[in-house]
Amino acid sequence: MNRRQILGALGFSALGAASFGGLGLTFPRGQTGEPLRSGARLPRPYTVPLPIPPVVRPSRSDATTDFYELVQREAELEILPGLRTPVLGYDGRFPGPTLVTRGGRPAVVTHRNDLTVPISVHLHGGHTPADSDGHPTDVVPPGGRRDYRYPMRQRAATLWYHDHRMDFTGPQVNRGLAGFHLVTDDEEVALGLPTGDRDIPLMITDRAFEEDGSFRYPAHDHHAGVTDAYMEGVLGDVILVNGAPWPVHEVTAARYRLRLLNASGARRYRLRLDPSRTPLVQIGSDGGLLERPVEQDTVLLAPGERCDVVVDFAAFGPGAEVTLRNGLGTGNAGEVIRFRVTSRASDESRIPQQLSRIEPLPPDRAVRTRTWTFRRAATGAHPGWLLDGRPFDPARIDADVRLGDIEIWRFTSDLYHPVHVHLDPFQVLARRRGGPGPHDAGWKDTVDLSPSESVEVAVRFTDYPGRYLLHCHNLEHEDMAMMATFRTS
Ligand code: C2O
Ligand code: CU
Repeated sequence: MNRRQILGALGFSALGAASFGGLGLTFPRGQTGEPLRSGARLPRPYTVPLPIPPVVRPSRSDATTDFYELVQREAELEILPGLRTPVLGYDGRFPGPTLVTRGGRPAVVTHRNDLTVPISVHLHGGHTPADSDGHPTDVVPPGGRRDYRYPMRQRAATLWYHDHRMDFTGPQVNRGLAGFHLVTDDEEVALGLPTGDRDIPLMITDRAFEEDGSFRYPAHDHHAGVTDAYMEGVLGDVILVNGAPWPVHEVTAARYRLRLLNASGARRYRLRLDPSRTPLVQIGSDGGLLERPVEQDTVLLAPGERCDVVVDFAAFGPGAEVTLRNGLGTGNAGEVIRFRVTSRASDESRIPQQLSRIEPLPPDRAVRTRTWTFRRAATGAHPGWLLDGRPFDPARIDADVRLGDIEIWRFTSDLYHPVHVHLDPFQVLARRRGGPGPHDAGWKDTVDLSPSESVEVAVRFTDYPGRYLLHCHNLEHEDMAMMATFRTS
């Protein structure tokens, strides 16, 4: 069967008509998704130490390029104390090891697939030629290998890499296929921001666990029909940071750069410090540094989004405990990570008032406006998540865009949908309820849409002709075909 036949064959009965038409849908506040409950015994929050994923060294370098090698394989990790969790991991790790590359210096990452399933690797936020972008149908079979080529013609930014296999991104990312890829450059280094062990990537995800410690994830056989628990988006009841449940981390009384990434399948977060004596000083977003630091009381993160903040733990002093909490979670889903301030320390870091320059994309120079609608089908052959009223068809081109043109894209939604665009970041121009929101600054590649909202962004694609994607980054919505293709030329 081709995809359309599969989708047609799903029909209403397999899915349960009660969940359609916008009636009878009940989701936790601020979420689109079905909460799963763990059967396993869970640790008390803030008892497990925070892991920091290791940085991968290049396997070799030549005059122009750094070469890296990663093996995707199964492993068993102790995520919950005393239990083993089978994962699919880059180098057998979850999160995968961190890649650190430099703007302007190409990197080649060779992925070997030692798993029993096909994979595709997408560098989220990467300015990447189409043949290395990890298209969902461009898979590496079990036993295969592939070189992903990243020219790295882009600014310093917190990127991440994750699986993007057609129809299976949700389950494969849930099993562990996600890691950080940090891009740095001379501009960033010159700023004097916190570095070394005071620059910490924090991958925030949610999971549910079976009694035996394995991840709990609903059945997702697109041929047999899928359950509501899968269809709406999967919410776990355990918050993992860098793969550890509600971890605790010791810090000195100094400034720390925290690179917050929401790598959850469907869960949104509103993060705040408790006590809130010092602000979260936002210095960057998806596409790198902001022009100026912005003091935030809270940081809103939808799946796929990143926010770089600096926290000055000197405001608390030795002995203090500072907790990052989630205002969009109830019970322990409202807990994230705790920092324990150990001692005073010298601190040469700075947060300059001018961080970077951001070239504006003037909307009055836009050559056209396109509307993209993110909506669930009420009726019809495909009862799932649609983009512009259609399920994703990899053989169809949904838009042709000229490289170098500025366009305005208007995204509209029925429920919460984090909208992600490949190839190049965009700038948020307006939300229906007014100007850009407090979390829309800088270059973005993922934007959080609330129910019945519309967001206008300015896009401009450069350098690489080919097929690229835009899609909802609620991974179950993505797998259920809320995705479209644009072609650049
Ligand atoms: Cu992070 Cu197309 O995805
Ligand atoms: Cu969605």
